[in-house]
Amino acid sequence: MGSPRWLFVALTLGSISLAVAACGSRPSRAGRTPFQTHMAVHYERTAEIHDALVKGVLAQARPAAGWISTHQETRRIPEGSGHFDALMRHYARQVFETSDLRAAFEATAQMGRTCGDCHRANGVTAAPALMASPPPAGGDPKGEMALHVWAARRMWDGLVGPDDRAWEEGSQALTRGWLQVNQVVSSPQDRERVRSLLQTVYDIGSRGPAAADPQERARLYGEFLATCADCHRLTGAVIR
Ligand code: HEC
Ligand code: HEC
Repeated sequence: MGSPRWLFVALTLGSISLAVAACGSRPSRAGRTPFQTHMAVHYERTAEIHDALVKGVLAQARPAAGWISTHQETRRIPEGSGHFDALMRHYARQVFETSDLRAAFEATAQMGRTCGDCHRANGVTAAPALMASPPPAGGDPKGEMALHVWAARRMWDGLVGPDDRAWEEGSQALTRGWLQVNQVVSSPQDRERVRSLLQTVYDIGSRGPAAADPQERARLYGEFLATCADCHRLTGAVIR
């Protein structure tokens, strides 16, 4: 298949691991300019950050965040777009330096927005990966998690693209959850907390499709990432 490799970089957690390219040290893949190849590496490395954060493991996000904030590949940045590059690095550095997971979610969301802003300014859409339809509704908590993973990935593609359709589909999927609190926690106190997290997910899903402003999208996306880590902590879910 001739599709670029980044199409296959799944943000899916678990069995699918990310193949990380060493930037700059290899010849560009057939038919792509060096800059395109470089962008594909950006995509892969931000996927690493995203994966680590939804697991709630900030330390695993650091290598990629550090790389994005410091890598020396500024030669081919489109003229007039240097400030986007600087901003992207700024947010990546925040992810690298912070020890606060929530701050990392917000910075990651802002970083994704900055990718999208530079693409928009240059009339580019980083076409989102071809994705299967969202997983079917119903079933056990793992099924709903597959829906969350799907939605998070689609929203990220929407932010980075920028791609309205990906954004709308991803956020809309969040209104289709079916998880019941008593499936995942038992104490009344925990139930209340999980209920409130599920409500947050639902609210993000209902507001998402109408949110056209990139800042608003970044905010919703950051909030969504925060629910993953909060709920996993509460329920003791182990994410590999
Ligand atoms: C300074 C501007 C700028 C920033 C910042 C930027 N990009 Fe890009 N990106 C571009 C341009 C311009 C292209 C189109 C390159 C071309 O087709 O020649 C592009 C293309 C892409 C592509 C498509 C590559 C291909 O194979 O055609 C992907 C994927 C991508 N960017 C991901 C990202 C991600 C992820 C980030 C943020 C971490 C990011 N970009 C930040 C300017 C930028
Ligand atoms: C309302 C609570 C809740 C929220 C919100 C939540 N999760 Fe989960 N997650 C769980 C629980 C509970 C499990 C353990 C499920 C099990 O093993 O049966 C889990 C497990 C997982 C797993 C492992 C599934 C498997 O097959 O072993 C993944 C992946 C996952 N969550 C991703 C996410 C992502 C990504 C988000 C946010 C975008 C998210 N979750 C938000 C409760 C939640």
